[in-house]
Amino acid sequence: MEQASRVKKLGSAIFSEMDKLSKEVKARGVDIINLSIGSPDRPPAPHIVEALQAAVADKSIYGYALTQGLDVFKAAVAEWYGKRFNVQLDPQNEVLSLMGSQDGLGHICLAYLNPGDIALVPEPGYPIYTASVMLAGGKKVAVPLQADNNYLPKLQDIPEKVAREAKLLFLNYPNNPLAAVADYEFFSEVVDFAKEYDLIVCHDNAYSELAFDGFRPISFLQVPGAKEVGVEFHSFSKTYNMAGCRIGFVVGNREVIAALTAVKANLDYGIYKAVQLAAVAALTGPQDYVRENAAVYARRRDVLVNGLRDLGWDMPRPKATMFVWAPLPKGYTDSYAFAVELLHKTGVVVVPGIGFGQLGEGYVRIALVEEEERLREAVARIKASFDFKVTENKPA
Ligand SMILES: Cc1ncc(COP(=O)(O)O)c(C=O)c1O
Repeated sequence: MEQASRVKKLGSAIFSEMDKLSKEVKARGVDIINLSIGSPDRPPAPHIVEALQAAVADKSIYGYALTQGLDVFKAAVAEWYGKRFNVQLDPQNEVLSLMGSQDGLGHICLAYLNPGDIALVPEPGYPIYTASVMLAGGKKVAVPLQADNNYLPKLQDIPEKVAREAKLLFLNYPNNPLAAVADYEFFSEVVDFAKEYDLIVCHDNAYSELAFDGFRPISFLQVPGAKEVGVEFHSFSKTYNMAGCRIGFVVGNREVIAALTAVKANLDYGIYKAVQLAAVAALTGPQDYVRENAAVYARRRDVLVNGLRDLGWDMPRPKATMFVWAPLPKGYTDSYAFAVELLHKTGVVVVPGIGFGQLGEGYVRIALVEEEERLREAVARIKASFDFKVTENKPA
């Protein structure tokens, strides 16, 4: 059975290869410390679970939900946006519920790309942007994100012809996998650039609430004029530990919201109402859980980064996200080979940077998705199996 060519273009073989290898190692009886997937390991706050339990017991809410989302959900999103970012949204026309932000990111290209149309996609990048372009039959043009520019795209380096032809620009700050962050000045440049080249900006802000040391990520929509050029995607998965509930939202430009709604109205009938009501409880309830959650990740980050730095493996201390984007230890150049060696010697699973695009080579992504004790254990195992100080300057 011949698959459509768009399916063959999907996904990186590296993710499935690492998964297969870690299962093999596990089958040998090794205790795996899985730091590869960005899936939160902690439960939602009690008031969210209680709201979900109460809603599930209500027999009147088992009908189809509308694609756009319950009024109470859209109102809660608009209110949260106002409080958190000081951005005013019209809940009826500028908010759309999503089955996780992935749903919106994955379908947005169907709303705007005709076959062969260009979308600008950051690289290294979270894989859904590329998949979205491929599923719509569009053409991806990679926009490099490199350390010398704090992993922000150099917009002026995008060839004029490409910028003119492109229809969409994906961005993601705080960033997965790079853990990079963006400021107001950068987003202002983005808005100017999008206006000049008539681009729709799709900003993925899934990690807006997972930031440390007093840092508060901003919304791209805070820039005057941003709503004219784009939308912003949010997730309950990381902010409220609701990844399995599959709920998120997109806000901003009403034409874009309407176009995505039109696509989704043909694909789904909205999110189970009980899940939407739990999300309302999350947005309108106490937010100290969100801050505590971020503090948990900050402590994990310190355990891991300090521990590995002490071993001679240097890496930046991220300001946000649940990831550490670590350059390979000295002496190593191949991210896949290093990740495989790490797995075999220690049972610790990380993602080779090459899985996020060619520019990810030379790095691994480590997800802070296990408790501090397990991260200490990971550091101890790495200490017992590697000597980074000695291997310095030696090829792997
Ligand atoms: C950058 C980024 N965007 C979007 C998503 C998808 O999140 P959701 O669970 O809301 O679909 C993830 C999930 O890991 C992510 O890392």
